[in-house]
Amino acid sequence: MKGDQWSPVKSLNRIVTMEERITYPEIDLFLRSTIKREEGFLKELEKYAEENHIPIVQPETAALLKVLTGIHKPERVLEAGTAVGYSAIIIAQAMGDTGTVDTIEIDEDMAEAARRNIEKMGLGSRIRLLQGDALEVMECLSTAYDFIFLDAAKGSYIEYFEQAMRLLKPGGLLVSDNVLYKGLVAQEQVMHKHRTIAVRLKEYLRLICHDERLRTSIIPIGDGLAVSLKL
Ligand SMILES: C[S@@+](CC[C@H](N)C(=O)[O-])C[C@H]1O[C@@H](n2cnc3c(N)ncnc32)[C@H](O)[C@@H]1O
Repeated sequence: MKGDQWSPVKSLNRIVTMEERITYPEIDLFLRSTIKREEGFLKELEKYAEENHIPIVQPETAALLKVLTGIHKPERVLEAGTAVGYSAIIIAQAMGDTGTVDTIEIDEDMAEAARRNIEKMGLGSRIRLLQGDALEVMECLSTAYDFIFLDAAKGSYIEYFEQAMRLLKPGGLLVSDNVLYKGLVAQEQVMHKHRTIAVRLKEYLRLICHDERLRTSIIPIGDGLAVSLKL
């Protein structure tokens, strides 16, 4: 690619800068311009999140979450990290007319915004917002889930993992977002401010790839998604 053919990549860079990429810019651009994008309120929510620097799953990740939900057909989903409710809504809609999503958010304002958005989408009876620290809330839960989506504090995935394994049914899916963390997980030298998270995520990936109870695939889309099947 050359000349002005590159210009659309610049607009994509507003979402993910060149340094933060985990794949080639032209591949990102192609994927993003090819997949079916959200419309209506979810499109507005994407715009709101971008303008307010609220990290939500990237469109490619949202598309994969929908496919996984469609294949797996979960009845009960648990999400750690709600933000404004975007991915919880995506998953609940992909589940069809039945099934529930429990989603955990630590930030009070964010949780309030998520509640409003969930109500606006008419999903108040199917998405339950649990406000608090994801690990503490998970420790208090006891009913099993078919699908667990980890998208809260990246440095705590190892701690979430133990609870996720306890709460996940055999045959259930554990999906973990941001596991490649802007590509930093694969780098030898990482700037100090990102080092702890990069090291912890690398440990987490080793854990879920080698745990005998799981079968795991790491997919380099969005910020890196790990999909693990509990055997
Ligand atoms: C990446 S955002 C979640 C995005 C959301 N899953 C989506 O795609 O629409 C991570 C969220 O986790 C929340 N969070 C961070 N640490 C947390 C914790 N310890 N417990 C619960 N939520 C936490 C943050 O406040 C933030 O809203």
